[in-house]
Amino acid sequence: MLSYRHAFHAGNHADILKHIAWLGVIQHLKRKTKPFVLFDTHAGAGEYPLSAQQTQLNQEYTSGMSALDGIHAVSALLQDYLSFNQPCWDAGVYPGSPRLLAEAIRAQDEAHLMELHPAEIAPLQQCVYNSGHEGIHVHHRDGLEGLIAMTPPTPNRGAVLIDPPYEQIGEYKTVSQTVDKMLQRWANAQVVVWYPLLSERAADKAAACQQMLDTLAGMGSTCFTAQLTVADNTHDAGMYGSGVCIINPAWQLDEHITQAMKEVTGYLSASASFSLDWLKQEAP
Ligand SMILES: C[S@@+](CC[C@H](N)C(=O)[O-])C[C@H]1O[C@@H](n2cnc3c(N)ncnc32)[C@H](O)[C@@H]1O
Repeated sequence: MLSYRHAFHAGNHADILKHIAWLGVIQHLKRKTKPFVLFDTHAGAGEYPLSAQQTQLNQEYTSGMSALDGIHAVSALLQDYLSFNQPCWDAGVYPGSPRLLAEAIRAQDEAHLMELHPAEIAPLQQCVYNSGHEGIHVHHRDGLEGLIAMTPPTPNRGAVLIDPPYEQIGEYKTVSQTVDKMLQRWANAQVVVWYPLLSERAADKAAACQQMLDTLAGMGSTCFTAQLTVADNTHDAGMYGSGVCIINPAWQLDEHITQAMKEVTGYLSASASFSLDWLKQEAP
């Protein structure tokens, strides 16, 4: 079943957290001139015109993007995020993870974008074509299977974004099993796994998500979660926020994400808050 379409949610608070974290990973990789390879296992359509009927239905971008539109950022990572995004926002488009990646990577870097939904492939290909970057490859396939098939890459510096819709409860387990398998082949990969924070109304999924995080916490050499909540976790809140679990993060990535997200929360709703917690740290 593939019913999820990201256009309904483009630019919401979860996208802001995920894309700032993903850009943080990319910017750290760019600190060395050596090339790197990125994988985006659930790429979506690439970019989202805000005027689209689906995006206008709930206007979820008002919970994220709209609050940052036109601000002057202080933190370096938020400045980078805005420098890549603001021109798109000005053109009425929210850049998804593929467009952001295409803006951020250099000529010597490569990327593999995977997407399964037949309706998302053509816009994704168009987005990549428009970027003019010949090292970005689109694959119409299951992203988790593709990740195992294409790793470790050459060169073996790089990172992975895993951003599933979690429509099926079984996806949480499949994600942790895939990351485990992949890290056995590509131990130094930085891995970003996005996940929703779900209230009691979706207790089964919330428990499966916690189990996924407990399993991911044992992988790699270090691991932290960064979470943005936008509402109280009341029984009926639904998705009250989201998080990213980052395995093998670059040195100081935690500080850079924290600085950017603390600044972001100041622009979001009064109930927004951010936290970062280490699940596994190297012994001092
Ligand atoms: C949350 S959206 C991705 C958003 C995108 N990463 C971004 O940040 O702009 C999830 C996407 O995964 C796709 N999808 C669902 N199951 C998949 C699978 N097994 N393999 C690859 N893509 C899948 C959906 O069609 C949807 O476009």
